[in-house]
Amino acid sequence: MTSIELRDHRAPRLTALVLGLVLVALVPLSSALAAGDAAAGKTLFAANCVSCHGADAAGGIKVGSATAPDVRWTNIGDDFKDPALVSRAILQGLDESGGPLDAAMPRFAGKLSATDADNIVVYLQGLAGPAAAAAPGALPKTGDPFGANLPIVLVLAAGVVLLAGASLRRSSNRA
Ligand code: HEC
Repeated sequence: MTSIELRDHRAPRLTALVLGLVLVALVPLSSALAAGDAAAGKTLFAANCVSCHGADAAGGIKVGSATAPDVRWTNIGDDFKDPALVSRAILQGLDESGGPLDAAMPRFAGKLSATDADNIVVYLQGLAGPAAAAAPGALPKTGDPFGANLPIVLVLAAGVVLLAGASLRRSSNRA
């Protein structure tokens, strides 16, 4: 009897704790994944970027004296691997440290919206190049805190949410 009463008092607090932990776990996750629509990004990339960066985004095409770089997520420079920075490069033509990119890279502000740029970034995040797979040094460092562990993190978060739900239901059944 006493132990049941104890659990009744603890359940809501435990639920709050678990939910709090889930929120804390999700904060870096949401900043790692730019919000956007990869399918829309693919269409925008095909219309605005393939002429220089190539249909597969692997770059290598000469534009004046510059060469359009590989912009697939695995191959983009580590310092650049941040959705906000790539979005800025697309809209304002600024490099990872805020300096101007070669004039050969168009400034898309006015032509593309911030949402368009975010959608392109999400599309690029889904593209992997073979070179990076062969070079472990090129693995993501910034903007992707979970890296290859992302599926595990998601499964754990789902489990915690289910547990929290079950404990909520249990506590409301007793009330
Ligand atoms: C007219 C050719 C051209 C078009 C069109 C173009 N780019 Fe570029 N882009 C370049 C060149 C050249 C550079 C390299 C600039 C430099 O080296 O400073 C570049 C650089 C970039 C960078 C910086 C990456 C890095 O590693 O330096 C990103 C990101 C990028 N482009 C994305 C895009 C996207 C997305 C589009 C379409 C919305 C696009 N570009 C359209 C030519 C182009």
